[in-house]
Amino acid sequence: MSADASNAPLRTRSIGQPLARLDGRAKVTGAARYAWEHELADALYVYPVQAAIARGSVVSVDIEATRAVAGVVAVITHENAAKLQSDENKELWILQSAGIGFRGQFIGAVIAESLEIARHAADLVRVRYDEQLHDADFRSDRDDLYAPEKVNAGYPTDTAKGDAEAALRTAEVVVDQTYTTPMEHNNPMETHTTVAVWDDGHFTLYDSTQGAHSLRKTLAPLFGLDADAIRVIAPHIGGGFGSKGTAHAHDVLACLAAQAVPGRPVKLTLTRQQMFQLVGYRTPTIQRIRLGANRHGRLAAISHDVIEQTSRIKEFAEQTAVPTRIMYAAPNCRTTHRLVKLDVPVPSWMRAPGETPGMFALETAMDELAIACQLDPIELRVRNDAEKDPESGKPWSHRDLVGCLRKGARHFDWDRRNPAPRARLRDGWLVGTGVAAATYPRYRMPGSVAMIRYESDGRYVVRMGAVDIGTGTWTALTQIAADALDCPVGAIALDIGDTHFPNATVEGGSSGISSWGTAIVAAARAFRDKHGANPEVGSEASAASPDNPEEERFAMHSFGAHFAEVAVNAATGEVRVPRMLGVFSVGRIINPRTARSQFIGGMTMGLSMALHERSVMDARFGEVVTHDFAEYHIAAHADVEDIDAIWLDESDPHSNAMGSRGIGEIGIVGVAAAIGNAVWHATGIRVRDLPITPDNLLA
Ligand code: MOS
Repeated sequence: MSADASNAPLRTRSIGQPLARLDGRAKVTGAARYAWEHELADALYVYPVQAAIARGSVVSVDIEATRAVAGVVAVITHENAAKLQSDENKELWILQSAGIGFRGQFIGAVIAESLEIARHAADLVRVRYDEQLHDADFRSDRDDLYAPEKVNAGYPTDTAKGDAEAALRTAEVVVDQTYTTPMEHNNPMETHTTVAVWDDGHFTLYDSTQGAHSLRKTLAPLFGLDADAIRVIAPHIGGGFGSKGTAHAHDVLACLAAQAVPGRPVKLTLTRQQMFQLVGYRTPTIQRIRLGANRHGRLAAISHDVIEQTSRIKEFAEQTAVPTRIMYAAPNCRTTHRLVKLDVPVPSWMRAPGETPGMFALETAMDELAIACQLDPIELRVRNDAEKDPESGKPWSHRDLVGCLRKGARHFDWDRRNPAPRARLRDGWLVGTGVAAATYPRYRMPGSVAMIRYESDGRYVVRMGAVDIGTGTWTALTQIAADALDCPVGAIALDIGDTHFPNATVEGGSSGISSWGTAIVAAARAFRDKHGANPEVGSEASAASPDNPEEERFAMHSFGAHFAEVAVNAATGEVRVPRMLGVFSVGRIINPRTARSQFIGGMTMGLSMALHERSVMDARFGEVVTHDFAEYHIAAHADVEDIDAIWLDESDPHSNAMGSRGIGEIGIVGVAAAIGNAVWHATGIRVRDLPITPDNLLA
């Protein structure tokens, strides 16, 4: 079958239905097994030993007292751990040398008969260090900022179109401001867990991961194994937000511990505190945005310069200015990213890396420009809407940002808004509304394969090694399979969450449905081609997600608009958000129920970012001091009032056979700007540094 035919639209019957989560009952009754909960005979427990300095090396490790504790089975350090075969990724290169790259890095582990014994005994390990001067000071005026070769997801570090500097010099209206976002931590509900068994040259891992296959592909070369020698089982995952999208050091530590006690399962789960050091985080950013426009608000120039941090041991370059390249139709545009390498934990993916901090800055600056031009902020965005991708010049597969803004305006009564700031006081609360745009790229990762077999009970088994991190994958893929095979959802038996099933790419970049769903559609079409509508029992077919030549011809991105109402207590500066609305243009919605949940989850995370979330690095110690939920505040139920997500009724024929573009991340993008813009409208105070805490709003 040709690639183009593989992309032919599906007739949708189950797709679009608000099917309840197929895994919901198992989850609420406790039957669904998360990584830690798999019952394994003779399990041992692992507790890590962590570096108590931010830079230097281990001089000696005294494990005598540890070994003497009854129930301790083994202690591993760099002196006796199995040797890893690849040091390409220094985050994973643990227990291989005496060197220490950041405070909290693993330097050993205790394996014991119970978690309590392991933890107690790990506390008795005595380590002497050779401490070196560390540097954890994130500032914009450093002289060691550098340009990475590229930024995350493979984007160019810097771009320049036209002459933004010249256009800024001659622009009638200029906004030139600096915005900052803090270090933030993903904090999924389920703590990162690996249960590992090393048996006869094979690993079996029960892991809380966003990619069963991608995890084993990362671990295999480290341990000098073929990928087939590692089985990863991950039927249910309690959230990830990116922090489970790549292997982290705990995966390796569990494997090293398993190798120390062959044949016995070892269980490792990080504590909440450890997750603030060991599973990635969103880098802090310092972003200068300059917008130049004529007095009618038409953009002549956009300039976005980003400074962010990475760790000395491994580079991660967040693509913060990347969304700026495609948002608006400015003839002149320049973007840059600069990094500073610090002795800090390794940053990584956090829901919509790049778009989330970048669009806070850009969409706040757009609000400032609207005010400077005395224009409605929606009208400003409409005037600068891009007919084609301003960066590549390619046509959009589909772009309806204007439709999102207009639909949101209707639902949010935007037309009745008085544009004057600090104009509404209600029972001691200053009230205001704000808007911001959202965007996220449509990604599909090549390489996912689905297998379909017709069973004797009249059902089709559909297998692939995809995962459901809480997003609704079990349900959405079942709906796609049902439509692809033209049968009811009850005839589909989906098997995911295990590398025993065919290869599936990582749940990242909101690419799951595009990557896995296209493989299922291709497999279903191959199945029907081969076996027809009345297959014999045992008939099988497999197929990979097909190449899609449209990906070269079109720029594929999703768009959205966020509306927020805030009430700011005139006496205390407390901010409440009584109303939020998100409107999305994301192609076809596979399941409106799980999709809505994804959107309002993203929006809630954006609200949390706007008002609460901030990890504080104490540079004197290289320590993230806000490392529990008492100090790292996350929006709770009481913070969320009237919140809703709606979408445009559309299908993107160029994206894939389902017409979808991915929805997991766009919900968070732009929310903090919408809330900040509403805070300005309520109070007349512009807060350019997140989070927007009450101290910013006291006169
Ligand atoms: Mo998502 S942050 O791409 O896992």
